[in-house]
Amino acid sequence: MAAADKNLILMLKEGVKKINEQHRKIFDYTTDLFSHCTGDDAEENHYFAATIGAAATLVKTHFKTEEDLMIATKFQFFEYVDHKKEHEEFIATLVDNVKQFRTSGSINLLMFASYAKWWVINHIKRFDKKYVAYFNKITEGRGIEKMRV
Ligand SMILES: [Fe+2]
Ligand SMILES: [Fe+2]
Repeated sequence: MAAADKNLILMLKEGVKKINEQHRKIFDYTTDLFSHCTGDDAEENHYFAATIGAAATLVKTHFKTEEDLMIATKFQFFEYVDHKKEHEEFIATLVDNVKQFRTSGSINLLMFASYAKWWVINHIKRFDKKYVAYFNKITEGRGIEKMRV
């Protein structure tokens, strides 16, 4: 097997591991968000302030991992552009929420949790699934675990 092939297979293997793990962590966070909707404003604000930085980093890293892998595996270009645009819109909404929180000192956690969960489920269904199906097809027979969504 040529060195370039070996590198590609290694990259695909690592990509699957990373993306599966990132999706699990993102789902865990959306679940955790709901379990912290207690109706107590101070508690909810404290929870948001304590977790949103790491959550934003996780999401940004995840989007970059998916986008890099789409490029490396030569995913259909227009699909890639649409997918990336969706990622950017979500980040922009996230940034807006953080800015508003910084200004006002409070967040409507239930609304934020609902938006985040809705977005993640909808995005996976409409965008990630297309790429995952393509990815699993090109890695078939290479001894690489399936990418799950
Ligand atoms: Fe994703
Ligand atoms: Fe995505």
